[in-house]
Amino acid sequence: MNPLNHVAIIMDGNGRWGLKHKKSRNAGHKAGLVIVEKIIQETIKKKIKYLTLFAFSTENWKRPKKEINYLFNLLENFLKKKIKDLHSKNIKLKIIGFKKFSKKLNHLLDTSERKTSKNTKLQINLALNYGSRLELIYAIKKLIRVKKKIDTENINQYLLTKNIPEPDLLIRTGNTRRLSNFLLWQLAYSEIYFEKKLWPDFNEKDYSKIIKKFKKTKRNYGNI
Ligand code: FPP
Repeated sequence: MNPLNHVAIIMDGNGRWGLKHKKSRNAGHKAGLVIVEKIIQETIKKKIKYLTLFAFSTENWKRPKKEINYLFNLLENFLKKKIKDLHSKNIKLKIIGFKKFSKKLNHLLDTSERKTSKNTKLQINLALNYGSRLELIYAIKKLIRVKKKIDTENINQYLLTKNIPEPDLLIRTGNTRRLSNFLLWQLAYSEIYFEKKLWPDFNEKDYSKIIKKFKKTKRNYGNI
């Protein structure tokens, strides 16, 4: 049985779910947040140490302003309401991404990270304004600037995911089979599961099924 230390998730399908239910795309994001909370609980139950959630990509700025504002409001309210609870559950929150938001949100993200920084039960990495190509470009530029050798170990040290182990398992919901510029370097040897359900329809049972399959998969890492 494979050990499972780190799950990464591309939570795709909120917009389509919202429209399918004769509501707005934003209604899908709201419903998606409920699933985020359920999956966090299930991740704790399964004693998994890292959960990385793709919440907003460097390309998502192309979306209508109304949707972007809605997403960031949702995040802000979520943190304001839930950070105490996350902290009391011994959960550490880490933002991976380029923190170029409003002063208010930057402050909220910083204080949330600081407050939970010593927690040890589960680390949630929230990918916000995250893009893998930009992350790699910055890491390599920095290595050149400090005149360090460009090798795997040094690149790992300059990525936004420094000190976070590579995901063992990537799940993408929403019936789409692509990586969308998410953790391209870090997913080199991860097992990937594409789930047909839209994110707001995903549940603990689906999650458990995928994990069960993952545990039985033979991981070769280039060997036989
Ligand atoms: C992708 O679905 C989802 C996002 C870009 C946002 C993810 C946000 C949430 C799950 C809720 C908020 C989470 C937090 C942590 C506050 P999509 O909109 O691209 O769906 P589509 O493919 O149907 O258009």
